[in-house]
Amino acid sequence: MSDRARNLLARYLQQRREIGEIEIVFSQDVHEVLSAIAAAPAAPIATPVAATVHPEPSAPAATRSLQVLGETAGKCTACRLAETRSTVVFGEGDPAARVVVVGEAPGAEEDRTGRPFVGRAGKLLDQLLASSGFPRETVYICNVLKCRPPGNRNPQPDEVESCNPFLKGQLQTIGPSAILACGTFPAQTLLGTSQPIGRLRRSSQSYEGIPLIATYHPAALLRNPSWIRPVWADLQRLRQIVDEADVE
Ligand code: URA
Repeated sequence: MSDRARNLLARYLQQRREIGEIEIVFSQDVHEVLSAIAAAPAAPIATPVAATVHPEPSAPAATRSLQVLGETAGKCTACRLAETRSTVVFGEGDPAARVVVVGEAPGAEEDRTGRPFVGRAGKLLDQLLASSGFPRETVYICNVLKCRPPGNRNPQPDEVESCNPFLKGQLQTIGPSAILACGTFPAQTLLGTSQPIGRLRRSSQSYEGIPLIATYHPAALLRNPSWIRPVWADLQRLRQIVDEADVE
């Protein structure tokens, strides 16, 4: 390829990236595209863009979408929590996960580390998930709120609303076989209801066509160990839904 064609192609890719496209699909053979670009009338190229383009490794589209969404969340100042947070806790895990676990909001440890569910409640969640055949690295974990409410107070309705596009984007991008909503806030937020968690967990629920299992929050289990048994039962239903989706 000539230097001019290379520069033009690099500039074209750079522009597509700058307008936010995260995946560029050429419908023609790439050599045809290159020849067409090479045949285009010469245009002044202000900077040697070939030297400044660093193509991303060919990460799957979901990985790149989550990365872009996470970068946007990382700069978010849409609500008052931006003033008190240390870190935005966007979420982590397998972008192709069959299960997305949704908690309430980061706590102190999460705010410090930038990772969801890493405190005591998180350790218990990891154990429960692993014992149901979902080791942490096979799921995707996030929260309704991406920033810690001061003193772990309850999320405010306007904070939930501001943060909702991020959660929606995560669920849309990953498209899991099932969602595990841990606690009242995630269950009520995703289902758009004010019914109590005790009732929600006993009936079949779905979020935009994705089966949703509502269960008690692991922090509540630390206070009420007798709830471990019902949570275990909820995780068995989750297992069954995922296994059935796998054979479809
Ligand atoms: N509780 C949550 O709901 N989420 C976390 O990430 C940690 C504790």
